[in-house]
Amino acid sequence: MHLTQEEEELLAGGQGRAAQKAMQILAALGKIYGAERMVPVSSVQVSGVSYKNLGDAGLEFLNGLAEDGKARVKTTLNPAGMNLTDWRAQGIDDEFAGKQLQVIDAYRRLGIEISCTCTPYLAGNEPTFGEHIAWGESSAVVYANSVIGARTNREGGPSALAASLTGRTPLYGLHLDENRVPTHTVGVESPLRSPEDFAAMGYFVGKTVKDGIPYFRGVKRASPEALKLLSAALASSGGVAMFHMALITPEAKDMRAPAERVPFTARDLAETTALLNDEGTPDFVSVGCPHCSLTEVAAIAALLDGKRVSTEFWICCSREVKRKSDIVGYTRVIEGSGAKFATDTCMVVAPVEELGYKVVATNSAKACHYLRNSGLRVRFMPLEECVMEATKRR
Ligand code: F3S
Repeated sequence: MHLTQEEEELLAGGQGRAAQKAMQILAALGKIYGAERMVPVSSVQVSGVSYKNLGDAGLEFLNGLAEDGKARVKTTLNPAGMNLTDWRAQGIDDEFAGKQLQVIDAYRRLGIEISCTCTPYLAGNEPTFGEHIAWGESSAVVYANSVIGARTNREGGPSALAASLTGRTPLYGLHLDENRVPTHTVGVESPLRSPEDFAAMGYFVGKTVKDGIPYFRGVKRASPEALKLLSAALASSGGVAMFHMALITPEAKDMRAPAERVPFTARDLAETTALLNDEGTPDFVSVGCPHCSLTEVAAIAALLDGKRVSTEFWICCSREVKRKSDIVGYTRVIEGSGAKFATDTCMVVAPVEELGYKVVATNSAKACHYLRNSGLRVRFMPLEECVMEATKRR
């Protein structure tokens, strides 16, 4: 792989140990994937933040890099395992909190913004069409590639961090035009009545196309919230990193519908929805996977107005969206009902199972997928029904 003079210097350790380690990671990746050279990136999203997933080995790795490493481009952070200021109200114990705060401190020393959200594009890290970026949150990767038209591979925690510490990534995969071509045509024959129907469709299609690039046809309109839920679902049941949607996403007009066809029928929608539902009465309700937009927070406030919650109800969003919600008055309504904002974290990366909950109601197919992996039972339902569930008289 061709390296510039500066990249050679980084690799030789001329710009510090952390930058050298980062360049070694990127050079190895470039070699594996046959990259001809590196490409500068303008934005990085780092995943691997919850102490629940990182453990002590991950914390040690970060502390080592933080000795002399510094982010060179705008870099934001995925959610952590708890609210960073109010963890006790979430029932998190002091031992977990102490470790989680050490992880955050290492990222802060690395010069990374402590944004703790999986929707960086709603919280100030907003790449534009055609920009090369290195993002490490699978739902945001799909959204960035498909809806924004930026270019990123599905980075892991270390490779995204390496991109941040050097300002570059190997030029391969979805950075190249030829790898952004769709592999399957998804003929959408089912009506899609809600963003959650898009999530169920994503779950079905992800399982079917695995790491392919679906090209959706037949969708008449799609809100940003629906595309957000679709992106997350595609990346959880499969390894999808990008999709096209005729007349909706920016690169679809340049693509031909592939010969390999996958129909998505009303029956597929019903069966997928059923598949995402276990038995049991929810004892925990959470929305915002991926983190809620202000539009979703507004809808939740309207649904909660004048009501009291009877079941623990978390609304996961970034601090940025919560700040806007405070200004326009949604927070007062939501917190007045007894529901809680879960900023900095989410129902999947927080240790919800250790808090004693058994059955989670959510409007996210991705959350259903991962909560089940943590041993919880799940109920998948639209946002409105989640609010009804949380406010039911018991
Ligand atoms: Fe975000 Fe947590 Fe879901 S990080 S995409 S809310 S699993």
